[in-house]
Amino acid sequence: MAPNDMVGKTVMVTGSNTGLGRVTAEVLARRGARVVLANRSEERTRPVLEAIAAEGGTANFHPLDLSDLASVRRSAEAWLARGEPLHVLVNNAGLAGQRGVTADGFERHFGVNHLGPALLTLLLVPALRATGEARIVNVASRAHKRVSRFDFDALQRPTATTTGFREYAVSKLANVYFSRELGRHLEGSGVTTYALHPGVVASDLWRKIPWPFRSLMKLFMVTNDEGAKTQIWCATDPALRGVTARYYAESREVPLQGLGDDEALAKGLWERTLSWTGAR
Ligand SMILES: NC(=O)c1ccc[n+]([C@@H]2O[C@H](COP(=O)([O-])OP(=O)(O)OC[C@H]3O[C@@H](n4cnc5c(N)ncnc54)[C@H](OP(=O)(O)O)[C@@H]3O)[C@@H](O)[C@H]2O)c1
Repeated sequence: MAPNDMVGKTVMVTGSNTGLGRVTAEVLARRGARVVLANRSEERTRPVLEAIAAEGGTANFHPLDLSDLASVRRSAEAWLARGEPLHVLVNNAGLAGQRGVTADGFERHFGVNHLGPALLTLLLVPALRATGEARIVNVASRAHKRVSRFDFDALQRPTATTTGFREYAVSKLANVYFSRELGRHLEGSGVTTYALHPGVVASDLWRKIPWPFRSLMKLFMVTNDEGAKTQIWCATDPALRGVTARYYAESREVPLQGLGDDEALAKGLWERTLSWTGAR
């Protein structure tokens, strides 16, 4: 039987209509949390709402499109207008291999995987602080280690590579930087941050890879249930109380190295994020 350690807590999980986000939402609902499924399609979220309700859990759909900063702002404001506390925000939504720019002219991976979630998070900080003790879990990736150069100018241009992998890795390094800087800025507030790599998971993330390669690759990947474990652990484990701004994989802390540990770049991204999102 699942523990009921999340009773009385409200948890928002972005990108929870499928993949790691869906498992995270379902597991936390089973443990007693009221889960807010922050997704762009209510229709695609319905099976998750029904599955959680069928097990006696509580879940609501909350509209969120991370590719458009105005829409992110509306989503956060709609949440704040409810005046309800938020104990955990799991920034899980993300995409890979989709080229172009967002509504605001940012490279697609950077905009959807970093800038949209960053604005959502910054706007929701008051609701998180109001609880006295809250967590922000940022689903990054070990792909961040593949970045050899963090080019700020490229963030405002369309995806340059054919696969989009380079841009995906940059967006995941941005998740690592943001989580750490945010943790530092929130020190003493009761709100703590966690960045993590979930593993290489057979989710829908690989939908742009042609079918025969995709099914072959998936043979070597872990399931969504297995992959969601580290983010659920970051969201709930009592051992992580008060710990902030760190990076994890396989439910263990992993030290950041190389570019991942570059404080000047992390601070540079923080400043630009505040100015690009208008969250300053
Ligand atoms: N799978 C892996 O091996 C792996 C490895 C390392 C890190 N990660 C990270 O894990 C996280 C979850 O990915 P996953 O593997 O579970 O992928 P997934 O199955 O493709 O799920 C991604 C989720 O993000 C949502 N999303 C995409 N664009 C969005 C937007 N513009 N606004 C709001 N939501 C949006 C998707 O919604 P729609 O259904 O509407 O598109 C979906 O719910 C991502 O941040 C990813 O980078 C995954």
